[in-house]
Formats: sequence, C-alpha cells, structure tokens
Amino acid sequence: MLSKTIEEALNNQIRIEAESSQIYLAMACWAEVKGLEGVSNFMYAQSDEEREHMLKLVKFINERGGHAKISQLAAPNVTFKSFKEMFEKLFEHEVYVSQSINELVHISLQEKDYATHNFLQWYVAEQIEEEAVARTILDKINMIGDDKGGLYLFDRDIENLTVTTAATKATE
Ligand SMILES: [Fe+2]
Ligand SMILES: [Fe+2]
Repeated sequence: MLSKTIEEALNNQIRIEAESSQIYLAMACWAEVKGLEGVSNFMYAQSDEEREHMLKLVKFINERGGHAKISQLAAPNVTFKSFKEMFEKLFEHEVYVSQSINELVHISLQEKDYATHNFLQWYVAEQIEEEAVARTILDKINMIGDDKGGLYLFDRDIENLTVTTAATKATE
C-alpha cells in the first residue's frame, strides 16, 4: 500500500513525464516543419518513450492501491531560435527530470517504502542514459555550428545515434 505522500509524489512525476512527452512532441513538429526529418523522427520517438515512462508510473500506482491522477499539463514551447537552442532545452529538461527522480528516491527512503525505492531504480538508470544522449547530441550540434552541410549529415545520422553508458545494461 502506498502512503499518501508517496502517492502524491508519484502522481507529480506522472505529470512531469506527460509534460516531457508533450515538450518532445512539440520539438518533433517544429523539426518536421523545418524539414529535418531525422531530427523529427528522433523527437517523435522520444515523445513516445516519455509516454511509456508515464504509463509505467500509472500502472505502478494503481497496482499498489493508489489512484493515478491525470492532470492538466503546462503548454510546451512550440518554436525555437535554432536546433542548438532546441537541443539545449532538451538537455536542460532531462537534467530537471533527473533532479525530480532523485527527489522521489529521497522521499521513498524517508517513507521507508522499499518497493517504490526499488521500482524507481529503473528511472535512475534511464535518466543517466537520457542525459548522456542529450549531452552527446549537444556536443555534435556545437561542433556543427552554423554549417548547413553539417546539419544535413546530422539529420541523416541522428536516428542511428546510440550511446552506451554504465547504466545501459541495467535498463536492458
Ligand atoms: Fe522520462
Ligand atoms: Fe527523458
């Protein structure tokens, strides 16, 4: 059984994952209208992943006697100055999500809820990976700068981008 504190904290994370999905969907749309098909496909896939993260939390709360509450979401940014800015925002957002997961882990320990603590380890490992991917993309974008040819190649290659981290094994 979940304590009210844990239930509320997990519900808050549901909102954050749902907002992440919306933020990345908006990025996918912007990239699509700008003609960067690879970036757009990559962001659509990221958006789907965030929805999976959300659903995993929904199921966990409901299965443990709580009630997953679907709430109103903040509207995402729909336009960006550049792809560099867009990927900076993506990286910043992943760092924010990691902080929020860390806070959740902290609360689960305070509440002595070891089942939730165990469940959250998947998210801890996932965030290491997501931050690493976002950082890798940002490094590449910084290398490209304003070079249109570079952006073309980047768009072609981003869908095959894989990053191996120490956490990769844990999330497989
Ligand atoms: Fe997520
Ligand atoms: Fe994420």
